[in-house]
Amino acid sequence: MHTIAQDAPTPIGQSPAFLQAMAAVSRVAPLARPVLLVGERGTGKELIAARIHYLSPRWNQPFLKLNCGGLTESLLEAELFGHEAGAFTGAQKRRLGRFELAHRGTLFLDEIANAPMTVQETILRAVEYGTFERVGGSDTVQVDVRLVVATNVDLPALAAAGRFRADLLDRLAFDVLTLPPLRHRKEDIEVLAEHVALQMTKEMRRDVFPGFTPAALQALRDHAWPGNVRELKNVVERAVYRTEPHRMVDEIILDPFVSPWRPLDRPQVATSAAGAVPSPSTAQPYDFTARIADIERKLLAQALQANGHHQKRTAAFLGMTYHQLRSQLRKHGLIVRAARPDEDFAELH
Ligand SMILES: Nc1ncnc2c1ncn2[C@@H]1O[C@H](COP(=O)(O)OP(=O)(O)OP(=O)(O)O)[C@@H](O)[C@H]1O
Ligand SMILES: [Mg+2]
Repeated sequence: MHTIAQDAPTPIGQSPAFLQAMAAVSRVAPLARPVLLVGERGTGKELIAARIHYLSPRWNQPFLKLNCGGLTESLLEAELFGHEAGAFTGAQKRRLGRFELAHRGTLFLDEIANAPMTVQETILRAVEYGTFERVGGSDTVQVDVRLVVATNVDLPALAAAGRFRADLLDRLAFDVLTLPPLRHRKEDIEVLAEHVALQMTKEMRRDVFPGFTPAALQALRDHAWPGNVRELKNVVERAVYRTEPHRMVDEIILDPFVSPWRPLDRPQVATSAAGAVPSPSTAQPYDFTARIADIERKLLAQALQANGHHQKRTAAFLGMTYHQLRSQLRKHGLIVRAARPDEDFAELH
């Protein structure tokens, strides 16, 4: 996700909700102000970010992207703001960050909720004043960057819980575009499906796409599309690919893993951390304290995993201080050795 987009496909749709979102895109695109894109996975946030850039006066300047998820705090900082030679082990040369590379253009920050609070502070300064320092440097760099950020979580709720900087949120919220899920714009399903099917037909070097049968269209309309346009795209591509040339697409396979020969030894996936409380008529009494400890331990382990075992980020995620987290991890035996000051990762049994 560190590429410079060449150009972006035109977003497709005709539902009122989609057209309203596109009107908002046209309204905000010409301004150099930040835009916050909110939407479920696969609703087109990245596509819309590119659209905003290409409809702006910056269209012929750089458009850069960075996903704030999955990077440690120091890596994210270096990716955003660059580093000087010798800033850390392995930093032999000066390297420019995304903010500097996107000068006069647009920077798209995906999964902004995953940026640690300290980095959020630096981002705020960069948005507000256009200034920052490279990691390991003291020179102030001045840039002109338009920021577009995306999230699929509720940022005001995170800010209220102290896990996202309210001042950054205020700044980013100049215009908030919430992209509607596909299940709330059923009118778009057929046009999107046709569009994807035509592209797939071309990719497979077939000369015509004969269309969908009424049953196939009904199946597409009836599905709830939790994965939104991305899921629809995958399903339609698979349907076209499985259909003989010159035949209408009739079979819609929503789950390609369905098979009578599917292995049965699937791991049990926990559906809730707490699990169901047994009903008194059917269950043995159980040890409340032990159950709570078990739940705490599971939540800690899940939170660590979700945050790449980065303890500071996990603490922020759980709304605790770093020291509270360390004490919880020790209590539950989730640390196998003492933390060094430079130690970023918790080691699990
Ligand atoms: N309105 C649309 N018209 C055409 N294609 C679309 C539209 N919306 C989304 N897509 C396509 O669906 C796929 C998913 O879109 P995109 O990556 O922009 O979603 P996203 O919201 O960023 O998802 P995630 O939250 O999972 O990162 C892409 O291939 C994109 O081109
Ligand atoms: Mg995305």
